[in-house]
Amino acid sequence: MLEGKNIILGITGGIAAYKSAMLLRLLVKAGAQVQVVITPNGKEFITPVTLSALSGRPVISEFFTANSGEWHSHVDLGLWADAMIVAPATASTLAKMATGVADNMLVTTYLSSKCPVFVAPAMDLDMMAHPSTTRNLATLRADGVRIIEAASGELASHLTGKGRMEEPEKIVAVLDAFFDGCGSRRLEGRKVLISAGPTRERIDPVRYIGNFSTGKMGYAIARRAAAEGAEVTLVSGPVGISIDDPAVKVVAVESAREMLAACEDAFADADIAIMAAAVADYAPAECAGRKIKREHCDFDEIKLVKNPDIAATLGSRKRPGQILVGFALETDNAAEHAAEKLVRKHLDMIVVNSLADAGAGFGTDTNKISIQYADGRPDGIFDLKSKDEVAADIIDAITRL
Ligand code: CTP
Repeated sequence: MLEGKNIILGITGGIAAYKSAMLLRLLVKAGAQVQVVITPNGKEFITPVTLSALSGRPVISEFFTANSGEWHSHVDLGLWADAMIVAPATASTLAKMATGVADNMLVTTYLSSKCPVFVAPAMDLDMMAHPSTTRNLATLRADGVRIIEAASGELASHLTGKGRMEEPEKIVAVLDAFFDGCGSRRLEGRKVLISAGPTRERIDPVRYIGNFSTGKMGYAIARRAAAEGAEVTLVSGPVGISIDDPAVKVVAVESAREMLAACEDAFADADIAIMAAAVADYAPAECAGRKIKREHCDFDEIKLVKNPDIAATLGSRKRPGQILVGFALETDNAAEHAAEKLVRKHLDMIVVNSLADAGAGFGTDTNKISIQYADGRPDGIFDLKSKDEVAADIIDAITRL
């Protein structure tokens, strides 16, 4: 999808600038024309020589070329680009972008750009968590800038926390999905409800019953549906990831009962519902008001009650024309179990994955699925792919319905 696209790669002064060379290489390999615009501080971290060799174009940093006096038109550049990505985006550049401090070529180009703009923040964890950064990111978000959230891990300071620039491969995948969605907005005008992540069922104020779901698959589907033009409601259990797309409304819930209420709300006028959440099947019959103490605990069992089946509840209320999609994550006899769920929950389509397949299941960045349909069309069998690609396959299958 990046073939022939004009992309401005903005590089600012952070350690993660070394990853920008790889990002540039991947973009060029995908067929994009990339113009690097680097801040004066950025050049302290990576040389323009490397970047111009990789992009095949002179790197722009100043308003004028020193010896020839040639003026670099930020206006023309802003009009030329199909997308602009600032990676890494330091706290300082984010602040300048949020407040319009156009004291370098990069921010000036940003202010002149007419194209979608993405930023991949990278900084130390304290800077990332600072109210000022949070405020600036919120302002940029409100201005329509798409934030590719920083990841957590070891930082240049050797501290561990949120602040690592997202990996170049992921940034390319986000851009690719964006252009892919622009090319085919097959869900334009459709309302899509997606459930994602685990649920937590409280035992007492500090403990819960839960599962290993991370929400990655459901969030990838939400991104893809939004890229294809859908208005998405993402009902999410507690997860460590976030989504930043004005077309996605996130409704955060904790328990299965809360998830049911939120899904029922959104299902009323949804065209499509995709149940990707790993809902806990049982909850403690009651949640203790205070922390249960080890020494004074006078029970050795937790009484459980069955949780509502959200997919089946929606299935029983389905209007003609509404499409309901379920998931089945199985450890054995995956196809038979899924076929039974397809019927029992009145689903139109079920996405089957098995923990027996390497690279499939909770927490991985990949998945291997098959799809069964209620209308008898042959099963779809897919290879092991990234969750973003799997999300595209699922949306594709839904649009065929
Ligand atoms: N599901 C749901 N509410 C539940 C349980 C499951 O909405 N209480 C949905 C899931 O989001 C998924 C599908 O139903 O789309 C199948 O989930 P799964 O856990 O595989 O099915 P269960 O009916 O819970 O069956 P089992 O745990 O016995 O395999």
